[in-house]
Amino acid sequence: MNFAGEHIISIEQFERSDIERIFEVADSMVPFALRARATRVLEGAILGNMFFEPSTRTRVSFGAAFNLLGGSVRETTGFKTSAIAKGESLYDSARVLSGYSDVICMRHPKEGSVAEFAKASRVPVLNGGDGANEHPSQALLDLYTIKNELASSGKRLDGLRIAMIGDLKFGRTVHSLSKLLCLFNNVHISLVSPQELAMPQLYVDQLRSSGHTVTCSSDLTSSIGNVDIVYSTRVQEERFSSPEEADLYRGRFRLNQSIYTKYCEPNTVIMHPLPRDSRADANELDSDLNQNPNLAIFRQADNGVLIRMALFAMVLDVVGKVEKYSHEVTWYSGRTR
Ligand code: CP
Repeated sequence: MNFAGEHIISIEQFERSDIERIFEVADSMVPFALRARATRVLEGAILGNMFFEPSTRTRVSFGAAFNLLGGSVRETTGFKTSAIAKGESLYDSARVLSGYSDVICMRHPKEGSVAEFAKASRVPVLNGGDGANEHPSQALLDLYTIKNELASSGKRLDGLRIAMIGDLKFGRTVHSLSKLLCLFNNVHISLVSPQELAMPQLYVDQLRSSGHTVTCSSDLTSSIGNVDIVYSTRVQEERFSSPEEADLYRGRFRLNQSIYTKYCEPNTVIMHPLPRDSRADANELDSDLNQNPNLAIFRQADNGVLIRMALFAMVLDVVGKVEKYSHEVTWYSGRTR
């Protein structure tokens, strides 16, 4: 795929070679993410960051990634502060906002809304999550994290063993990650959820058609014993008709250090797209895992900057120019990976 000028809406746009190229470009962004070097390759460019659902990681890391490439960020957060609250259509919003921006990132509660917006946009649009549908940049950073975490034990993405746990029905990150895994070989996927929150059959069928092994269960401890990655997710209460309905499922699959020690292989990597729900009635990843070296959740969040820098550099076609417009930083940064 030629990324220049393209929208990034769905994992379905990519082939395996595209993913490998994104990861290669993400690796080249490390000195800039660590603030060892600064670049102004996107000086003069404006990112329109439009988030109509709550977000910490996606919104801030898209913004930070753009700033680290030298560009400026303008944000709209929530419907109330946007003219959409006055009845403006996605078409009109896209026509207008793409006149003010060189690239747009958008999160919206409705499935398909970002694709609809992109059709009317005059600049590339990156999907920051559309309802329960997809979250492609999250899946890319998740897979990049898996690749890096497994590298030290000599394992590769082909042959990966992964357990996806929690709300697999509404969790858009596991939908995009499942699609992404279809590009690799011989993956073993253990799906762990309440029956009512099972992974939609479409994604299971895609995984099986790709030659992968998929098992479904509603029992945590018997599903996490033979995997490289435990990928936990939050009950997506914003997709339920009421918080009380979400309460029925909250806290069903809690991983803590003693369960990890008893049931997981010693080097199993623990991931979560975050936010983890740390309220007492949920607590899907206990804080007693915080000192576990295999808890990769914050390395995973950090990788979001690298992947999003790579996407901006590729979509705005500056990959080969980042270094040319760079210099050492003059201020102290004790940042390490
Ligand atoms: N993982 C993720 O999408 O986090 P935010 O909702 O904070 O953006």
